[in-house]
Amino acid sequence: MGSMERPSEQWPSKMLDREIKRALLSWYAATGDRAARDLPWRGTRDPYAIWVSETMLQQTRAATVVPYWKRFIEALPTVGSLAEAREEQVLALWSGLGYYRRARMLHSAAKDVVAIHGGRLPQRASALLTLDGVGKYTAGAIASIAFNERAAAVDGNVARVLARFFAIEEDVTGADGSARVWAVAARLAAVDEGEPGDWTQALMDLGATVCLPQEPQCTRCPLRGRCAALARGAVGDLPRKRVKRAPMEVRSVAIVLASKGAILLALRQTGALFRGLWEVPQQPWTAGSLRGALRALARRLGIAPAALSVRGEVVHILSHRKMRVTVFCGRLDGRRRFALPGPDYSAIETVPFSELRRHTRPHATLTRKLLDMANMPGNRLR
Ligand code: ADE
Repeated sequence: MGSMERPSEQWPSKMLDREIKRALLSWYAATGDRAARDLPWRGTRDPYAIWVSETMLQQTRAATVVPYWKRFIEALPTVGSLAEAREEQVLALWSGLGYYRRARMLHSAAKDVVAIHGGRLPQRASALLTLDGVGKYTAGAIASIAFNERAAAVDGNVARVLARFFAIEEDVTGADGSARVWAVAARLAAVDEGEPGDWTQALMDLGATVCLPQEPQCTRCPLRGRCAALARGAVGDLPRKRVKRAPMEVRSVAIVLASKGAILLALRQTGALFRGLWEVPQQPWTAGSLRGALRALARRLGIAPAALSVRGEVVHILSHRKMRVTVFCGRLDGRRRFALPGPDYSAIETVPFSELRRHTRPHATLTRKLLDMANMPGNRLR
């Protein structure tokens, strides 16, 4: 690529759009320098499998998603099997991936695909948008990868590539900046060059492996000759994002009651975050004191606080929340029945540790951290 002409969003010439599209697509096709990532969902054309992958990839890195996707597709290989599955199985397969709302919406959308669309995924991005959990980005990704539509899909990686390449100065997470990024993405996607799905994934890969947030590898970039940010030495300043507010801090106590090989867990029935997942019984104490929360939780379980010992604090950071959980530990007497439920929990059970190890019981990563902190001999998750 020459470096004479600087790009702008209003490029007069369609030829330049075509040129960058060719350059990036041939980089993507070049296996010699392992440009394109070897990801298992790239070996399928099955729209359902691609939909599952894009849902898992919404907030999670590709390397993390790989084993979850394989397990999910093996257990629930068709949209029909997902539609018929129990929610507990879907959440168990999702356990550890976070953002469990994605799993609940995927499940609900699969039921709609069966009930409304005759078991086949709609093909156009505009129609895919009507499914639960499918936003503009996921719709564009599925439509381009599974159905060859020249639709754009802008995630964080793609927004960074485009903001730098076109030197878009607005906050890409705000309405105006996002609209500008989507507009150039749509214009480039529409250029009749290469396979639509390859273009979508080439942009994602460039963002994930070369046009990195912290240390961009500009010397390896197939678009460096025309990158506006590089030309003005502004790669490190773009994309601009508004400063995130600090996550709200939530403090709680957890009581881990365990015996060799088993653990007392409760099924959460409220809250968008962990509903439908099994967890160590917990009590928040945003107002009040640790002491008061511990007493309240012990009373709900029907045990004496004096029978417990403190293990330490687990800090778990979610997108909007910083959770600080003080962990207390005690022995589980197998013959006892415990009270807990309502209104936050709907069941309490002694669960064999093996069910957590094998991911057959839905639970969040926080639960695993609490159990690690409790550090009970014989009850190892890994
Ligand atoms: N992130 C979102 N979708 C992706 C895909 N198809 N390949 C790699 N990373 C992705």
